[in-house]
Amino acid sequence: MTPLDWTPESWRSMPIRQAPAYPDTAALSRAEEDLRRSPPLVFAGEVRELKAALARVATGEAFLLQGGDCAESFDAFSADAIRDSFKVLLQMAVALTFGGACPVVKVGRVAGQFAKPRSEAMETVGDRALPSYRGDIINGHAFEAAARIPDPKRMLKAYSQSAATLNLLRAFAQGGFAGLERMHQWNLAFVAASPQGVRYERLAQRIDEALAFMAACGLSSKSVASLGQTAFYTSHEALLLPYEAALTRVDSLTGDWYDCSTHLPWIGERTRQRDGAHVAFCRGIKNPIGVKIGPTTTPDELLELIDALSPENEAGRLTLIVRMGADRIGTALPSLLRAVEREGRTVVWSSDPMHCNTLKTASGYKTRRFDRVLAEVRSFFDIHRAEGTYAGGIHIEMTGLDVTECIGGAQAISEERLSERYHTQCDPRLNGSQALELAFLLAEEMKAERDMRRSALAAVAD
Ligand code: PEP
Ligand code: CO
Repeated sequence: MTPLDWTPESWRSMPIRQAPAYPDTAALSRAEEDLRRSPPLVFAGEVRELKAALARVATGEAFLLQGGDCAESFDAFSADAIRDSFKVLLQMAVALTFGGACPVVKVGRVAGQFAKPRSEAMETVGDRALPSYRGDIINGHAFEAAARIPDPKRMLKAYSQSAATLNLLRAFAQGGFAGLERMHQWNLAFVAASPQGVRYERLAQRIDEALAFMAACGLSSKSVASLGQTAFYTSHEALLLPYEAALTRVDSLTGDWYDCSTHLPWIGERTRQRDGAHVAFCRGIKNPIGVKIGPTTTPDELLELIDALSPENEAGRLTLIVRMGADRIGTALPSLLRAVEREGRTVVWSSDPMHCNTLKTASGYKTRRFDRVLAEVRSFFDIHRAEGTYAGGIHIEMTGLDVTECIGGAQAISEERLSERYHTQCDPRLNGSQALELAFLLAEEMKAERDMRRSALAAVAD
């Protein structure tokens, strides 16, 4: 139930962090009004489907794959880039579905992932300091005073780009492109030649054989719709509350409020204060909600957050996205898992192995070492196995582009090569080859988890 005292505007009276100071408040009101009149980007029925799918993740019957850019941008907007990231997510999902033998819930960081929280309010270059870049939905990336002034009209441009992106993704997901029979076409040219690409092609051939067998039995995409299409959902950090509130609508079927800017909004590590504006906003919407959980989170703090956001303990409502760093996850995560188990709370546990494994090179590139990313993922699975809880998902920053932003992987990208194709607006992303390599590792972890559960069941049966 929506809390009785809640409205899409009630967050405004709460303390807020990371909010831009718009100098022109009249222009802000006009932009909000334009958004309020604009059609919803996603629909309550789709959001409920995603929540039901996440409920299956919470109970260990499915796996969540969430990925995309750190930040979408106006300049890098391109149909080819959207298509290529979608292809890599599909490839990852195939590897995971096969390895884990369980359904994969596919969610993009896309069609709204524009606003960025910043650790520093100011950015200094040489002896000049300017307000930090906060994502294209707020201000401009160029290091110029005028570009850094928050401009509310940017919300309208972000909305239009999100609408066009979603339109394309819906066509890809439902129009035949995502059908398993098209699996070979998802291998991107630069990935196909890599060991991952070859491994993927071998997997695709095995699935081909299974599909041919099923077709001979009368089951093909003509008779089974799910073979010819896929469900694909969107997500972004619900950081810029004027944008989120203006796109929050009452569902005519149920009378409940939904944030119709995205299927799965999440609250970032910097804005998840129990009494802050972002939690106050997300409490009242019916969408499934994600929350980033950093290494300093205490069990009590986490339980309070869960109580605030999921008071009815509905499966699928809450996804905890753990981002602790390869070095700290071993000491920080177990007590949280135990507290949540002890209190009988149902959540999805997902791993973000990106955000606490970031470093700056001597030449000034913000990067991540692929082996540290893998190390955090492995620890995440190991800890869950040791605690008897379910490692339910992965949350990554990735792209289908052939970028050189993260160090390592089978392509052995070195620190010196980062400058070749370093294009991100914000954090470094895995490229298609690195993302697929990660998916194969995950598939092995999931298989190990499945085998362990099977033998535990067999032991009980004996
Ligand atoms: C992000 O996901 O891009 C992000 C800023 O994450 P976090 O809130 O975990 O730092
Ligand atoms: Co990021």
